[in-house]
Amino acid sequence: MALCKNQIKFIRDNKKAIKLFVETGFLRGDGVKIALDLDFERIISIEINKDYINKSKSMFTKEITEGKVTIVHGNSAEKLREVLETIDEAAVFYLDAHAHGHGCPLIDELNAIKNHYIKGHVIVVDDVWFIENSVNNSDRAPWANNLTFDRFMGIVQNIFDDTKVEKIEYGQSAYSDGGNNYALAVLNNNKS
Ligand SMILES: C[S@@+](CC[C@H](N)C(=O)[O-])C[C@H]1O[C@@H](n2cnc3c(N)ncnc32)[C@H](O)[C@@H]1O
Repeated sequence: MALCKNQIKFIRDNKKAIKLFVETGFLRGDGVKIALDLDFERIISIEINKDYINKSKSMFTKEITEGKVTIVHGNSAEKLREVLETIDEAAVFYLDAHAHGHGCPLIDELNAIKNHYIKGHVIVVDDVWFIENSVNNSDRAPWANNLTFDRFMGIVQNIFDDTKVEKIEYGQSAYSDGGNNYALAVLNNNKS
């Protein structure tokens, strides 16, 4: 799902001097459009499905040519780690690569960010309700069986130990069949 109003507000309030936005799951480019509207100077989006990239990358031809937008093809479970090797500044990460039958790379993504040498990253995990209530079993990671928000929060809190993890409510979603609609935010501010 594209970023909801509360997620956008959270990013606006917390990005401070951060200039880089990294998204996993490009789909139709809506996240990239929003990141441009939020005045990020550089945007990187990772997408596993080449067809989605080919369909929508032309919306960003100018920004791609200028080096402002980079779309990376591949599985974010590996590609995010490679992207992180090229990053030497704090970033806002919007983790939205799930559904569509390619599994759920979230824990790999979170660990890659946690292990990055730069601290001060801001992370928004989208669609936690979907990970919890996934109707597509091929996308349900073993750790997501019988997942509740509190358990998920515990998993993330375990990865980021003393970091602030908070819930972002985003109202009813068109895709929801009554599951809880929320995202999770991680402020990786205080670790050295
Ligand atoms: C919920 S959509 C992303 C929506 C987009 N971020 C937006 O704001 O509109 C999920 C996208 O993640 C992609 N995806 C799923 N698993 C992935 C993976 N392991 N690596 C990279 N992309 C993945 C899907 O192909 C799909 O395009």
